[in-house]
Amino acid sequence: MRFLLRFQPKKSCSSATPELPAAKPERVGRVVLREMRLEEVEDAVVIEAKSFPDPWGYTLFRTELENPFSKGLVAHFADETRILGYNLFWVMFEEVHILNFAIDPTFRRLGIGELLLKKSIAIGKELGAEKATLEVRISNVEAIRLYEKLGFRIAGERPRYYARTNENAYIMLLPDFNRFEP
Ligand SMILES: CC(C)(COP(=O)(O)OP(=O)(O)OC[C@H]1O[C@@H](n2cnc3c(N)ncnc32)[C@H](O)[C@@H]1OP(=O)(O)O)[C@@H](O)C(=O)NCCC(=O)NCCS
Repeated sequence: MRFLLRFQPKKSCSSATPELPAAKPERVGRVVLREMRLEEVEDAVVIEAKSFPDPWGYTLFRTELENPFSKGLVAHFADETRILGYNLFWVMFEEVHILNFAIDPTFRRLGIGELLLKKSIAIGKELGAEKATLEVRISNVEAIRLYEKLGFRIAGERPRYYARTNENAYIMLLPDFNRFEP
């Protein structure tokens, strides 16, 4: 169950950060996942602003990283520190709940989102979770395809869940959580 709405005003940061160079597919084999650090929040906010019509701001990221139920993972190339994407999720009441998840647009369609999501579910399992849930905009075809690829299924709909755009959310569940193999 997600309790937070994406309520922060959109940040304009495209001119403050230089464009990242194009990734070569062979580099994806060298993507490393690790825990997100507070000093990476500013970079996450930049990716966030490129990814959502109602992006989280610095304070919300920071608050979540300090929440004992929250876990934050980032992806980066083994030989670089800049982050390529992140996934924030809760492990609470035997449930993994995906909170906020995005990949820098330059590095999409390379398998990084799938890696992050699988790792998050694996961490949840290690911590004793027995199910995984999330909400996703009903128009977010890319994300829905990714979730379905990993076995998530649409279980319901929340009307006007995204207040800023007045859009509905699908509730998605992972029915085969116990059999999920990352
Ligand atoms: C959704 C998102 C995280 C996917 O990350 P990604 O690293 O590009 O995804 P991957 O390369 O790991 O793709 C894995 C699978 O997802 C699906 N997928 C991802 N992008 C897709 C696209 N543009 N079109 C169709 N399917 C897509 C495919 O099934 C893909 O598997 P395949 O490559 O075998 O076809 C990324 O598009 C993103 O950051 N979007 C904006 C933020 C967002 O919507 N976050 C989710 C909020 S609920």
